[in-house]
Amino acid sequence: MLLAKTLALLGATVLARAASNLDALARDVSRVESIREIKDVQRSFAQLAQFGRWNSMASLFSSNGTLMWGNATAHGPAAVETWLRTDAGKMDGIQPGSLDTIVMENPLVNMAADGQTAKTRWNGLRFQGDGVGGTRIQGGIYENEYVRTEEGWRISLLRYYAMYEGPYFPGFRNVGGRSIPVITYHFTPEDSGIPIPPAVGEASRTNVSVEGLERRIARMNDEDDVRNLMHAHGYYVDRRMWTDVVDLHTTNTTVRVTNGANYTGLAGVRRALERMGPEGLTKGINNDHLIFDMIVDVHPDGKTAIARGSEVAMIGNANNRTASWEFNVFRNHFVKEDGLWKVQTIETTPLIVADYYKGWGTGGLKPANTYIPPFLDATGLRAKAIKQVGIGKVTRSDLEDLQRRLQRAAAYDGAENQSHAYGYFLDDIDCARMGALFAKRGHKASPFAGFFITPERVAQACFASYGTNRSALRSGISFHWRPQPVVLVSEDGRSATLRARLLQPSTAVNKSGSFNSAIYHDQMVLEDGKWRLWSVTIDEFYWQSSSWEGGWSDVKPRNESAPDPEPASWTKKYPPDLSIAAVGDRESTFRGGSGRYIEWPEIQRMWWQYRNPVSGRVPEYYWPGCVPCKAIPDWALEANGYQEPTTGPSMGNGTAVNR
Ligand SMILES: *[C@@H]1O[C@H](CO)[C@@H](O)[C@H](O)[C@H]1NC(C)=O
Ligand SMILES: *[C@@H]1O[C@H](CO)[C@@H](O)[C@H](O)[C@H]1NC(C)=O
Ligand SMILES: *[C@@H]1O[C@H](CO)[C@@H](O)[C@H](O)[C@H]1NC(C)=O
Ligand SMILES: *[C@@H]1O[C@H](CO)[C@@H](O)[C@H](O)[C@H]1NC(C)=O
Ligand SMILES: *[C@@H]1O[C@H](CO)[C@@H](O)[C@H](O)[C@H]1NC(C)=O
Ligand SMILES: *[C@@H]1O[C@H](CO)[C@@H](O)[C@H](O)[C@H]1NC(C)=O
Ligand SMILES: *[C@@H]1O[C@H](CO)[C@@H](O)[C@H](O)[C@H]1NC(C)=O
Ligand SMILES: *[C@@H]1O[C@H](CO)[C@@H](O)[C@H](O)[C@H]1NC(C)=O
Ligand SMILES: *[C@@H]1O[C@H](CO)[C@@H](O)[C@H](O)[C@H]1NC(C)=O
Ligand SMILES: *[C@@H]1O[C@H](CO)[C@@H](O)[C@H](O)[C@H]1NC(C)=O
Ligand SMILES: *[C@@H]1O[C@H](CO)[C@@H](O)[C@H](O)[C@H]1NC(C)=O
Repeated sequence: MLLAKTLALLGATVLARAASNLDALARDVSRVESIREIKDVQRSFAQLAQFGRWNSMASLFSSNGTLMWGNATAHGPAAVETWLRTDAGKMDGIQPGSLDTIVMENPLVNMAADGQTAKTRWNGLRFQGDGVGGTRIQGGIYENEYVRTEEGWRISLLRYYAMYEGPYFPGFRNVGGRSIPVITYHFTPEDSGIPIPPAVGEASRTNVSVEGLERRIARMNDEDDVRNLMHAHGYYVDRRMWTDVVDLHTTNTTVRVTNGANYTGLAGVRRALERMGPEGLTKGINNDHLIFDMIVDVHPDGKTAIARGSEVAMIGNANNRTASWEFNVFRNHFVKEDGLWKVQTIETTPLIVADYYKGWGTGGLKPANTYIPPFLDATGLRAKAIKQVGIGKVTRSDLEDLQRRLQRAAAYDGAENQSHAYGYFLDDIDCARMGALFAKRGHKASPFAGFFITPERVAQACFASYGTNRSALRSGISFHWRPQPVVLVSEDGRSATLRARLLQPSTAVNKSGSFNSAIYHDQMVLEDGKWRLWSVTIDEFYWQSSSWEGGWSDVKPRNESAPDPEPASWTKKYPPDLSIAAVGDRESTFRGGSGRYIEWPEIQRMWWQYRNPVSGRVPEYYWPGCVPCKAIPDWALEANGYQEPTTGPSMGNGTAVNR
């Protein structure tokens, strides 16, 4: 019996060690909730900035909290508020036509063993404009600290390391025109996969009931389903897969555009989508709408949910060299029907639409927005909502099933953590630490080359590709942002499949940085109590910018009579365990693959590890499981004692729904 086997394995691995009683389980639940609240507090900071809510941003700090932004420092909420207001000036999201979109992504959360403090690392971007011609773009890394207070988690230190900045014209480059140092990590590869450190001592007595804990755990499982639904929705929009988008909606659905029209019913959703163009991408069309800083609030009854976040669209048409930016806020509603989450309402508030070649400095092409979509209260969001009364009776099997479900929630955070650790080490081309994130039998695709298996060979391939003598000071960096994850956790919570974007901002000393886009297809496992990377494949690129000035729409089709590019030349010295070409059809159109190479502005095939999460519709290019696993079945999760996560519709408890 699968479940019995699962439970036996769980005993050893849940949250580093299984809770032996209700009080211990309550402590573990509160810790997973804390990880999420910390992320949401920081996302609130970003969302509030978009509308110049300096006072509310400052109230996210503890009473003695500190903000360090580049070389500026402010102590205490009042000083933080003043600094934020002064620094933004007229680029505050309040002046008509102004913009202040802060994006903080790729959270890596580290909680102290006593559960009272935490540290995080984030990538940051900030897009600003004053509506009368002034613009500013800032990018860097945050290393922040948090403290648990009576009112919930608060920021005790927000420390922003400014790495690149500049006005829209001529674009951004390294701060001060200098090379950029490595920003010290608060974590090591060894601890990056430990979901929650083992708690110290006996859990304190609580009055929680089994029912109360069950609802809090279900709420986190629901949150994960809603996150996946919204992120999957976003990927379908990018590819103009309108039929799949419509599948995610409930029948009485509405799409509402602030200062625009309402569209009702499934036919209405399709009409709303077709404003962007017909179904499917054709040559030269980029329709990327990136989702950032989403907070999900599941109603305590577990039947409805709200998600609020930012959307930054990078869209264009390379056929006539047109391109634009769109900055939107979304506040969407979801409903659970027959155990499956569906989209009830899409509510989009456009802030700025701007021609790429003119920028957003003068407020863009549309009249200024004045509507502020209501914020979600991120502090104490989870704990406050569910009253805990009475001491329920608890049997051993209740506890085990609750632990399994909690483990699935912790798995979402653990897999995401590991994904971002990978991105940060790769930004710094720290090959040794990047390799150490892999499982003993983990494998990674090196771009344009092939797959390498074991942490040692993954690291060696990185050295072979980038060289061993990397300077601690870099004149330029290509970042590896991995936002918008769709994380499919296995029923037992010991393995996960993760899809993420690669968003690649770059910066250099004396040349404007630009953006590229690709897709990661990964799997993660819990090995010896730590999350590790099992399989990492990068499909790149879906679009690339020719330069900052040209953007993603100023690209020429490649010369059809020129030969396809060769695999990376370093593979002659350090050959992969499985070449890109040997993977077969799946990788055939990427550089080094066995077929005809496809390059933007031609539309690269997009692959999916999952079917439509509501209808179960099979995508045109469907590849469940790890990418090299059809060529080498021994590399599959199931061949190594792990479950293959469900690839179609599933309930919050991880059980597949047959569709
Ligand atoms: C800041 O306040 C917290 C309680 O909120 C306290 O534990 C900590 O010692 C204080 N830190 C400093 C530097 O005053
Ligand atoms: C602080 O940083 C800003 C922006 O990078 C710069 O303009 C300013 O000169 C710096 N101030 C000091 C005291 O270094
Ligand atoms: C993420 O990684 C950090 C740093 O190593 C680790 O301490 C933390 O527990 C991890 N968090 C999660 C949610 O996995
Ligand atoms: C549990 O409930 C009892 C009776 O209502 C109360 O006296 C006690 O303080 C509560 N304990 C905790 C830890 O909340
Ligand atoms: C739409 O349907 C859902 C579930 O079937 C229901 O809860 C909701 O009230 C309906 N909404 C409208 C606007 O009819
Ligand atoms: C769209 O629906 C909202 C909420 O029902 C309403 O306030 C608004 O006036 C409608 N907009 C249009 C253009 O009909
Ligand atoms: C570029 O092409 C799109 C349609 O593909 C069209 O809507 C737009 O008007 C064109 N723009 C220019 C400047 O030609
Ligand atoms: C590494 O590079 C630096 C600067 O280019 C050079 O001085 C040094 O000799 C190099 N070290 C090795 C081991 O190649
Ligand atoms: C930028 O710097 C590089 C070396 O750091 C130099 O080779 C190049 O000429 C510089 N370009 C410009 C436009 O200054
Ligand atoms: C295209 O590639 C072919 C073969 O390499 C070459 O002969 C031809 O000159 C190229 N055409 C252009 C426009 O670069
Ligand atoms: C998950 O929930 C469904 C519906 O309540 C139930 O039929 C199924 O047995 C559950 N699966 C597990 C593994 O508990």
